Amino acid sequence: MTTPAPDKKISVLFCCLGNICRSPMAESAFRHTITSLSLGAHIDHIDSCGTASYHTGDSPDPRTVSTLLSHGIKTTHRARAVNARDFERFDYILAMDTSNLRDLQRKAAAAGESAKGKAKVMLFGDAGGYKGEVVRDPYYGGDEGFEENFEQVCRFSRGFVERVLGVDVEAAEAAKEEKEGE
Ligand code: 4NP
Repeated sequence: MTTPAPDKKISVLFCCLGNICRSPMAESAFRHTITSLSLGAHIDHIDSCGTASYHTGDSPDPRTVSTLLSHGIKTTHRARAVNARDFERFDYILAMDTSNLRDLQRKAAAAGESAKGKAKVMLFGDAGGYKGEVVRDPYYGGDEGFEENFEQVCRFSRGFVERVLGVDVEAAEAAKEEKEGE
C-alpha cells in the first residue's frame, strides 16, 4: 500500500484573473494527476474560477485547449467568477499569481466572517512546495508561455499531492506502472 487512506475528501479551486488561460489549465492538469495516480478517493470537488467576470461562460483560450490536448488532456470548462460561497465550499483556493491572491483575500474579507471559515487561500506555487513561484499571465504572449504554465501546474500538482494529501508520488507511479504491466 503506497497511498495512505484519506482522512477526508478535499475540494480544490484554482483561480486566475479571467479563468480562460491558467486556472482551467491548472484544474485540468490537477484532475489528470489525481486520475492517473488513482487518487480520486482523496478528492471531492475540483473546479476553477477567475477574480474577474468578463469571460463568464467562455471556453478556455484556444492556446490553453491546444496545450492541454498536446499532453493528452481535454477540458470542458466554462469560465466563471469566484463567489462568496466558494470560500465555504472549497478547502483550498489556489491563486496563480500574487495579484490573484490579493484579490481573493479581499473578496474573502468582503464575503464576511463565515466565508473566512474554511478555505485556505494561497498561491498554488506555495501549496505545491515552490515557495513564491507564480504562474505568469500568458494572455498577451506567445504559445511558449502556455507550455511554461503547463510545466508549472503539473509540477505544483505533484507537489500538492505529496505535501497536502501525503502521497508518495513516485511510489504511486511505480505502483501504477506495475499494475499496467500485469
Ligand atoms: P487568465 O489570463 O487570467 O490566465 O485566464 C487572462 C485572460 C484574459 C485576460 C487577461 C488574462 N483579459 O484581459 O481578457
